[in-house]
Amino acid sequence: MNILVTGGCGFIGSHFIEYFLKNYPESKVTNLDVLTYAAHPDMPKHLEILASGRYLFIQKDISDPSLKAWAKNLKFDAIINFAAETHVDRSILDPDTFVRTNVMGVQNLLAVAREAGNIRFVHVSTDEVYGSLKPNDPPCIETIALDPNSPYAASKASADLLALASARTYKQPVLITRCTNNYGPYQFPEKLLPLLIANALEDKTIPVYGDGKQVRDWIYVVDHCRGIDAVLQKGRSGEIYNISASGEAQNIDVIKKVLNMMGKSESLITYVGDRPAHDRRYGLDSSKIRKELGWEPKTSFEEGLRTTVDWYLKNTEWWKKVRGTEYLKYYQANYEKKFSSGNPKIKEVNS
Ligand code: DAU
Repeated sequence: MNILVTGGCGFIGSHFIEYFLKNYPESKVTNLDVLTYAAHPDMPKHLEILASGRYLFIQKDISDPSLKAWAKNLKFDAIINFAAETHVDRSILDPDTFVRTNVMGVQNLLAVAREAGNIRFVHVSTDEVYGSLKPNDPPCIETIALDPNSPYAASKASADLLALASARTYKQPVLITRCTNNYGPYQFPEKLLPLLIANALEDKTIPVYGDGKQVRDWIYVVDHCRGIDAVLQKGRSGEIYNISASGEAQNIDVIKKVLNMMGKSESLITYVGDRPAHDRRYGLDSSKIRKELGWEPKTSFEEGLRTTVDWYLKNTEWWKKVRGTEYLKYYQANYEKKFSSGNPKIKEVNS
């Protein structure tokens, strides 16, 4: 298979390319990525070495209108779209960027896929489009109504609707995956787990939003990639597939578990102001992909967390580098004004 992956220098996209090249020795991957703050600068080189001759990197934006003409002459079998702005907190401060990339970018890519011969288009989405669950609600199935709360979630829901509309209107072979919270190596340390691990390694405080009792449904990133691959290979066009390891847990319990695993004190935990419109609970029902495509997660939360913590321990240079630049700039400029309403403890996070 010769595939075009967009956003392949980001956390999940880079894991997917690595998985794909390793598991399909005949495959070819073109990685199109604009290289935003969250991209791994060394990823194009790393994947080139891994795949020698089967991997090509192109630095471009998914919203670039010239992509349509470019893709026409190439023989891709499928496009898998990972490119997105993904951090909820950033979307609260700067929703325009999210609409540009996550909505306009996807609209452009759908046209690219049509121009390239109406090829299979797998759009990687999120459980956040379903909105927040109540404690006794059953986990979400693919057909429930969308109810996004953050600008990020609304931008992803918009893209999902455009993709489904293209499937119906243009008979386009579009498939959508919706996954839960990913974790693993190479995740940018602005998301809860890498931020927690990196802060703990430096004995800095861990900011817990609100009461910390929000529930997220955790999955190891490689299991997510295996799910996307199953959908790419065997999924039915026009369908949505939830991907979940049924790993619901309260933030505070996850934080304590990781601190414990790392031999760090729970006194690092610092309660701070809450994220506006903070979704209380996510939970996904993934029976459809399990039954139809035979996918199931392989990595337990315990095992995945251990691998992740070990990776951050061994790769201090990587996370110190990425967080030394963009992270600090962003957090120092915005964090306090964002949620903390003057909580003096928040200052310690960045000190
Ligand atoms: O559910 C899938 C989604 O998971 C993806 O679509 C998003 O791209 C991804 O960012 C993630 O969204 P969340 O908002 O759930 O992830 P985040 O790591 O930002 O936060 C996880 C939970 O931890 C959430 O309830 C907010 C809380 N939190 C987060 C941070 C960064 C804290 O309490 N403190 C923090 O410092």
